[in-house]
Amino acid sequence: MPTSPNGASFYATTPIFYVNDAPHIGHAYTEVAADVLTRWHRQRGENAFLLTGTDEHGEKILRTAVANKTEPQDWADQLVRDSWLPLLETIDIDNQDFIRTTEPRHEKNVQKFLQRLYDTGFIYRGSYEGNYCVGCEEYKTEADLIEGEGAFEGQSVCAIHTRPVEKLEETNYFFKLSEFQDRLLALYEENPTFVQPESARNEVVSFVRRGLEDLSISRSKEKFDWGIDIPWDDSHITYVWFDALLNYITAIGYGEDQAKFESLWPANVQVVGKDILRFHAVIWPAMLMAAGLETPRQVFGHGWLLVGGEKMSKSKLTGIAPSQITDTFGSDAFRYYFMKAIAFGQDGSFSWEDLSARYHSELANGFGNLASRSIAMVNRYFEGVVPAPGAYSEVDLQVQAVAAKASADSDAAIEKIAIHEAIGAVWTLVDELNNYITVQEPWVLAKDEANRERLSTVLYTTIDGLRSLAILLAPVMPKATAKLASALGIELSATVASAGVWGGIKPGTKLGELEALFPRIESDAEGK
Ligand code: MSP
Repeated sequence: MPTSPNGASFYATTPIFYVNDAPHIGHAYTEVAADVLTRWHRQRGENAFLLTGTDEHGEKILRTAVANKTEPQDWADQLVRDSWLPLLETIDIDNQDFIRTTEPRHEKNVQKFLQRLYDTGFIYRGSYEGNYCVGCEEYKTEADLIEGEGAFEGQSVCAIHTRPVEKLEETNYFFKLSEFQDRLLALYEENPTFVQPESARNEVVSFVRRGLEDLSISRSKEKFDWGIDIPWDDSHITYVWFDALLNYITAIGYGEDQAKFESLWPANVQVVGKDILRFHAVIWPAMLMAAGLETPRQVFGHGWLLVGGEKMSKSKLTGIAPSQITDTFGSDAFRYYFMKAIAFGQDGSFSWEDLSARYHSELANGFGNLASRSIAMVNRYFEGVVPAPGAYSEVDLQVQAVAAKASADSDAAIEKIAIHEAIGAVWTLVDELNNYITVQEPWVLAKDEANRERLSTVLYTTIDGLRSLAILLAPVMPKATAKLASALGIELSATVASAGVWGGIKPGTKLGELEALFPRIESDAEGK
């Protein structure tokens, strides 16, 4: 592991995505959030590691492969190659690893984990009868079901997928989840931010208080065999969720590279959609406790992107491909929009009109124009060389105070995973600088040589404010801020602590050219 300048490590994860279909913007949303958090920590100087990947076993993938007249492994290979890996480029994710659950490093260590739980008495053989939803890959209780509509009228359907569940009766292996009720409640008590946001925490706590049932963790191969063999009984394969959750530790060396494992585990934050919160906040910590491993420090359940008031999903044909947005607006705008427009933790709706309006007002006119006109004025009035400031007046000190506060507030907001708040805090500086320029009118000062010193102070103040913005916005908009940093002649790595400290730009620095960061988009390219 590379050592970090400040010695801390930060490990974040996304869910691993089913390869039954190509990604839509809901999947991209999770990826971007986890990436922004990780990039922020990296920019603090921490050894920050982001894991993402794909969930490739189970009945759902097998059925999709069969429907497409191919083998599940070939199907998964094709989707990972053509859709899931390219997604990371499309939305500019800086992940340190990508795990696939069909890789040997995963499969053999899942077996080690299972064997350990079996040997220590946490797994037993029993039989079960229940309603299974293949879409969720989960047994459903009566409370999870609703009355079907249309073609499914008169049947009980899964509330998430609105499709009928299937009655299953099997002899399986069970994990003694019911034994962990007290320890889980103690965990939520002792670490009140283990599950966030608060609404998610409350839901999980009341779910566990109602009591837990043991969990079926295998399926008989007589039904289907696309999964990891149960090590002591090869007539069974591992339940796909039990297999999938373990990716968070197999990817970082569980079972084979203890030093790497210890350098990253426990994860600092596991970002998941609220649909899969119980798996992560109930089953997963219980599995870890059973194996004598530490639980993650936090599980954050974010909201859904909605279309017509419902969760966007490919199976309901409401999915929008991320490239539909990035082809026109670029990856920075995609990242900014979803992180700023939706309070992280709550549901939100996407609309082309809102995206386009924010792109033009907040990015092109707000931030982009501020950067280009400030640099253009230094080029015009000082031949591109940053002037030394004269004595600061009240208004200049006010800009410095806003920069310091924006920096402190955004860092604190990231600490509590309030990404929208962090961006909001940074935007106080964008607004302050735009206002400052409007009031100070450097183009008027430039007309009179007697104002040379004042002009120097105003432009120095603007440029040093831009330096803070380049640093604080880098985790959200890596491409635009890299261009800005290069024009300002600054480095972005390990700089969060310096963002709010005034005077980072050396007078005498020669500025580079800056192309428009967010060019205007003609309206016929929008709203397709
Ligand atoms: N494979 C499981 C997760 C296993 S993790 C050990 C799975 N995969 S998934 O592909 O169906 O969805 C994974 C995640 O995608 C969701 O938890 C959520 O983070 C994200 N989203 C999928 N649809 C979404 C929306 N409409 N809105 C926001 N996020 C969405 O579940």
